[in-house]
Amino acid sequence: MDHTVRSLISVDDLTDEDLRRLVERGAEFASGDRSRVLDGDVVGVYFSKTSTRTRTAFSSGALRLGAAVIAYGPADLQLNTGETLADTGRVMSRMLDVLVARTAGDPREMRELAASGTMAVINAMSVDEHPTQALTDLTTLRTCLGRVENVSVLYVGEGNNTAASLALALSRFPGTTLHLRTPPGYGLAEDVLARAVAHAERSGSVVREHHHMDDLPRDVDVVYTTRWQTTGTSKPDADWHRIFAPFQVTSRLWDDSPKALFFHDLPAHRGEEVTAEVLDGPASVAFDQAENKMHSAMAVLEWCRRDTSGSSPARTKSARR
Ligand code: CP
Repeated sequence: MDHTVRSLISVDDLTDEDLRRLVERGAEFASGDRSRVLDGDVVGVYFSKTSTRTRTAFSSGALRLGAAVIAYGPADLQLNTGETLADTGRVMSRMLDVLVARTAGDPREMRELAASGTMAVINAMSVDEHPTQALTDLTTLRTCLGRVENVSVLYVGEGNNTAASLALALSRFPGTTLHLRTPPGYGLAEDVLARAVAHAERSGSVVREHHHMDDLPRDVDVVYTTRWQTTGTSKPDADWHRIFAPFQVTSRLWDDSPKALFFHDLPAHRGEEVTAEVLDGPASVAFDQAENKMHSAMAVLEWCRRDTSGSSPARTKSARR
């Protein structure tokens, strides 16, 4: 039986059809769909940085889909003794079908691991993007609101990898609006904002970024924040807390958007980016969102290994059985 070999390193690796299909499949897995599409596959899970959700989501998801899982922590691979990423990828591709990787660097590291073309590589967070988080977020819009199209999201906080992938993904859905309120000096990378705006112009959506908390939009569907200390990063300003303080999410934001849901990619620091009252309050779906990481991971793993019509080009190879 031939299986697909398709990598997900950036949201921009996905066609519009891929994005829609992945969100739908994530929602189907969330509602109890069962599949053993990875039966006989071996999935490597390599995290050079800490993770609770993404690592568990992909490990649990791969096992539920029938794969065996090999886990590597930060101290396990010969990368630590100087072996190159390219050589690591060449070796792993002869033994693994999929590698889920969180590295400290940029997407070039992921592309080096994927260079053989015979092992699918999934970016479980790099310094600039967190594509599987964005798929989780869209799946959560789909499961909580019944749609992704025409939703409005107020994102408050750092323009980090989660914000970048959210902007690149949401902007591909017609009628959506993404209001980004990011602290001065901590906005989206210029190239990411330009790509998101280009997607928005093509699809009929809106992406706007401001560096203040004045004149907030009314009646948004979702308020979203992430923690202020993004995994694997540090801030150049010693007094960054002072710059971020006005961007704390409090119940005040619900005065103008009383029906808004609250999203958080977690982990959370109550009293920093969000108050406990909001995170643990009735608007919060943060822990449903966390569970959706597993359902969405299953959709991504399936997409990497099974061809679906209308999706982006993929290589195939015979399964090792
Ligand atoms: N949201 C997220 O990526 O969580 P982890 O860092 O725990 O994987």
